[in-house]
Amino acid sequence: MNKIRKAVLPVAGFGTRFLPATKATPKEMLPIIDKPLVQYAVEEAIDIGIEEIIFITSPSKYSIKKHFDKSLDLEDRLIESGKHEFVEKLNPSKFSKIKFHYVMQHEQNGLGHAISLAEDLIHDEPFAILLPDDLFFSEDSCLSQLKRTYMNTNSSVIAVNRIDKNNIHKYGVISPGIQEANSIEILDIVEKPNADEAPSDIAVCGRYILTSSIFKKLKNVKPDKSGEIQITDAIKLLIEDETVNACIYEGEKFDCGSKLGFVEATIAISLRDKEIGHKVKDLINKL
Ligand code: UTP
Repeated sequence: MNKIRKAVLPVAGFGTRFLPATKATPKEMLPIIDKPLVQYAVEEAIDIGIEEIIFITSPSKYSIKKHFDKSLDLEDRLIESGKHEFVEKLNPSKFSKIKFHYVMQHEQNGLGHAISLAEDLIHDEPFAILLPDDLFFSEDSCLSQLKRTYMNTNSSVIAVNRIDKNNIHKYGVISPGIQEANSIEILDIVEKPNADEAPSDIAVCGRYILTSSIFKKLKNVKPDKSGEIQITDAIKLLIEDETVNACIYEGEKFDCGSKLGFVEATIAISLRDKEIGHKVKDLINKL
């Protein structure tokens, strides 16, 4: 079985729902407390043994590259002024052996199109995809849960969770087959169905482990109504040739691409922060 060594992080979207904050700052750089969303995703990937991170980015998102480049000048200054405790925050040691790649997506033609741009760097290996605006919190991370299902099945696997019918039209939704423990075979998948046409209440969330056959399928996907190439449509084609499983994610999930999800994540994460958690609780009670 092939090891999962590479992860693709698409970060080239417009972040329209967060305007004006995203006019000059990438959505993925918005912080939950003191850490940008994209760093949570990168750490989740590194923690399961990922060695190469492939960002699909755009020229206006230079700050993402700057964030992951080693900042030696500032490190020297921190050491000179005795602020040693900040050095690990500035240049985390867990990043030191990771190879970061930056591939430009010049036209935002959708998530599927963004993923297709990683083909030359992935070649024929299975790989992970993390959408940084979905933030997951659990002792065993979302990607680690997917990796276990991948190891048990040697097949592509997608993270899913159950969604209220009123919100199902915002997600990719699976038609479930046989379930074993928390792994379900996917019979079919549909992007953003109407509530009355949705095949289930089981929706895709932003973590995937896919075989490289997805690149062939992406070439055959036609743009949707809004002109975007959807990864869901490529997965639908993949299911015709290969088993694709869904892994029911166990833990908390925050949709930080929406304002409400972002605020919810900020409150939840700050409440469990050792330094400020109890004060945040007092603040909320006062409000
Ligand atoms: P979203 O649709 O949630 O992000 O895409 P968006 O398009 O930036 O947000 P809105 O809808 O305009 O507010 C999920 C992920 O896919 C990336 C985004 O950056 C985000 O991380 N993406 C999306 C790309 O990299 N390229 C695209 O063409 C589209």
